[in-house]
Amino acid sequence: MHTAREERVIRPARNVYGSLRLPGDKSISHRYGMLAAFAEGTSRFTNFSTGADCASTLSCMEALGAKVGRLEDGTIEVTGVAGHVTPTSQPLDCGNSGSTMRMISGLLAPQEGSFTLIGDSSLSRRPMERIRKPLEAMGARLTLTEGHAPLLIEGKPLTALDYTTPVPSAQVKTCVLLAGLQTAGTTTVHEAVRTRDHSELALRAFGAELTRTLNSVSITGPQALHAIESAVPGDISSAAFFLCAAALFPGSALVLDSLGLNPTRASLLDVLTALGAHISVLNLEEKHAELVGTVQVSSPPEGLGSTEVKGGLAAQLIDELPVLAAIAPYTRGGIRIRDAKELRVKESDRIALVAQNLRAMGAEVTEFEDGLDVPGGQTLHGATIDSGGDHRIAMAFSVAALRAEGDTLIQGSESAAISFPEFFDLLNLVAER
Ligand code: S3P
Repeated sequence: MHTAREERVIRPARNVYGSLRLPGDKSISHRYGMLAAFAEGTSRFTNFSTGADCASTLSCMEALGAKVGRLEDGTIEVTGVAGHVTPTSQPLDCGNSGSTMRMISGLLAPQEGSFTLIGDSSLSRRPMERIRKPLEAMGARLTLTEGHAPLLIEGKPLTALDYTTPVPSAQVKTCVLLAGLQTAGTTTVHEAVRTRDHSELALRAFGAELTRTLNSVSITGPQALHAIESAVPGDISSAAFFLCAAALFPGSALVLDSLGLNPTRASLLDVLTALGAHISVLNLEEKHAELVGTVQVSSPPEGLGSTEVKGGLAAQLIDELPVLAAIAPYTRGGIRIRDAKELRVKESDRIALVAQNLRAMGAEVTEFEDGLDVPGGQTLHGATIDSGGDHRIAMAFSVAALRAEGDTLIQGSESAAISFPEFFDLLNLVAER
């Protein structure tokens, strides 16, 4: 398959200033879309993610019998299959989306019928053993292709499981919980680091009961889900690019409202504060147990300091690490990232690509198997950036480009649309030249 590669020139900026409202959170939209499609009744969502990844989830669920409509005002309307999907002989195309493939596998493994899941070239390289292991321990039949997609599921009733995830992964946790939802008995997932808990909150919002301890979550099946109406909170992982961009310019001021601030997702605010950025959070409210608020950020006159991200924090910040590394040369003391080996098996090898692109811009950087050490106090020059077709690499280096000397060319800039199609337009809106 040939995918069109677009390029974009990013000119340096002198400041970042303004206020924005960002499209809905990708992780929450995947879950709301998938659960609504599985539930009984018609759900409605405003501010649903505009990214291609969530469109992949919706189109897979449509192929399985759910009805998806887009109203004139942008509301997404999903009528669910009331717990029973219709098998299809067509492969379910998960596109670039690991969340779609891993979560839907848990939903389908206990259903009747055979299902084939495929993805694009990036997704077809990503590890799927991590879902095969727990699902097979529940009695499921899953066939992978050398540990990857295409993936064949032959659905059958499963048995409950007590499982400890070997690597922190909200996708794997969700996969097991969605199988547990449909399985007699109590299924428990233990995790060493509390990964994003949107599935737990969403399952409860759709009427399921689950119990949590400090490091585990249990669900007793079978349970039915019922439709909800909700406004999806703004995506804090998309906001990360703007928060980091604002943090680069003394004199910046940026306000982001209706932003998702779930504590398992909001560690970037602590890291930016540790770097010296001024952050305040206003108007906190709750929507279906998801925290939402307004975030104001400005940068200190002396510039950003230094910080280290490791251990559980690295797992919680995994999607924000590329942009943090990309702004690190402009800090005074640098940023060191460890315990982030998972970055190597994301949409691209994000450790290798961040190091390669920082070097292309003239930065010094040390690469580790599980992280990066980026010294501060560096001057970067505009360069040609290879995004590797990875949305977060394209956007992270668009941010780095704002403080570089000279123009930067982002190759594969269209990949931003995987999570954030509006990114370049919004960047132009707040980047003052
Ligand atoms: C996600 C979980 C994380 C994250 C991904 C979205 C989710 O992946 O990197 O962008 O929505 O559950 P892992 O589960 O592989 O850690």
